[in-house]
Amino acid sequence: MNIAIVGTGYVGLVTGTCFAETGANVICIDTNAAKIEALKKGVIPIYEPGLEEMVQRNVKAGRLTFGTSLEDCLDQVSIVFTAVGTPPNEDGSADLKYVLEVARTIGACMKRYVLVVTKSTVPVGTASKVKEVIRREQAARGVEIPFDVASNPEFLKEGNAINDFMTPDRVVVGVESDKARELMTKLYRPFLLNNFRVIFMDIPSAEMTKYAANSMLATRISFMNDIANLCELVGADVNMVRSGIGSDTRIGRKFLYPGCGYGGSCFPKDVKALIRTAEEHGYSMRVLKMVEAVNEDQKDILFRKLSAYYQGDLKGRTIALWGLAFKPETDDMREAPALVLIKKLQEAGCLIRAYDPAAMDEARRRIGDSIYYAKDMYDALLDADAMLMVTEWKEFRLPAWGVIRKTMKHPVIFDGRNIYDPHELAEAGLVYHCIGK
Ligand code: UDX
Repeated sequence: MNIAIVGTGYVGLVTGTCFAETGANVICIDTNAAKIEALKKGVIPIYEPGLEEMVQRNVKAGRLTFGTSLEDCLDQVSIVFTAVGTPPNEDGSADLKYVLEVARTIGACMKRYVLVVTKSTVPVGTASKVKEVIRREQAARGVEIPFDVASNPEFLKEGNAINDFMTPDRVVVGVESDKARELMTKLYRPFLLNNFRVIFMDIPSAEMTKYAANSMLATRISFMNDIANLCELVGADVNMVRSGIGSDTRIGRKFLYPGCGYGGSCFPKDVKALIRTAEEHGYSMRVLKMVEAVNEDQKDILFRKLSAYYQGDLKGRTIALWGLAFKPETDDMREAPALVLIKKLQEAGCLIRAYDPAAMDEARRRIGDSIYYAKDMYDALLDADAMLMVTEWKEFRLPAWGVIRKTMKHPVIFDGRNIYDPHELAEAGLVYHCIGK
């Protein structure tokens, strides 16, 4: 089976590489020629465990190729996946210009049947816009070549993307023809060995599923952050409450961890976009508006705790930050709570020493030289008045508390991810604050 993936961002590259891994012939297309040249040499533009080796292996086997022109390969493929970006417009809606540009190229250049599958997260109704654009372009050429559109939203988690793709809980596919259903069944058949389900549905429902899933997960997080904040006020321990409610199978244990807010490329953008879609249809997503508001507040929580601890006297203090990426196992800093914290700390006149195992270059690119980039996690703590644990990387989990106590000026830890044991820190002579207890 020959397929093209347009857009070699996170989703496109993982999707293309994983399909190649199952034996499909995949060409990944991107307009960025420098990126494509690097990919041809097996150099990948993102940090994702296991991806580089998988790209190199499939390039070597000749199943994974890269190019800059969709037009040149359209005749050889039966499926085109659109995995281009849908950045948020100022009003929170998703900008579809790249998705529709791919549709335009397909309509203008196709010579035989092709199935056009949208992988990018797009608002309900996008597939019919894609169809309209392809039809319009064909009409301009005076041709009527059959094609189908489909929606196949992606549920990958950064840092675990290969695993999520190769052994998914489910694959959601929106189709409107038997031919499209057959092609998608064939493409996903290798994964059936792993016993998972392809859930076929109509296209608008598939488009909606992605937003509903991410919004539900974001809701769980904001809900738990609210519960955690209340736990502090009433003297309860959110970790206990979490295990108490998580053992109810209707609730489940996952995604109930309070912290310093959710970030990343999906939750914030998708929650905003769903609120916006509802508004366009004259409806207000009241719950989601609060989910977003709670999250914005939560990104400040470590700053508020620090400020309360020092009674507002923060000017000139040195603050260590452990973790900059929005979550572990990625260098992604999109909507990262660390960005909000850094801004707040700087406005209060603090000096920042930061360390992240993967996101140091990304941080430099985003915030420049206004903070000190530490050589390692202990260097970040030198003469610090407090340490803020922002991203729960594995290597931060069992630190040498004795060394930390001696390195810091004031050994105070604000744990934004609740990864440390309060008793252990107290024994080691450190002051410890966390979320929700
Ligand atoms: C998410 C979805 O999980 C994935 O299905 C979708 O396709 C894309 O968006 P991702 O953004 O990679 O994936 O990260 P995820 O692991 O889901 O975490 C998102 C954010 O929520 C992170 O900032 C994380 O720290 C936070 N989070 C997660 C919590 O605060 N508490 C939790 O219990 C879980």
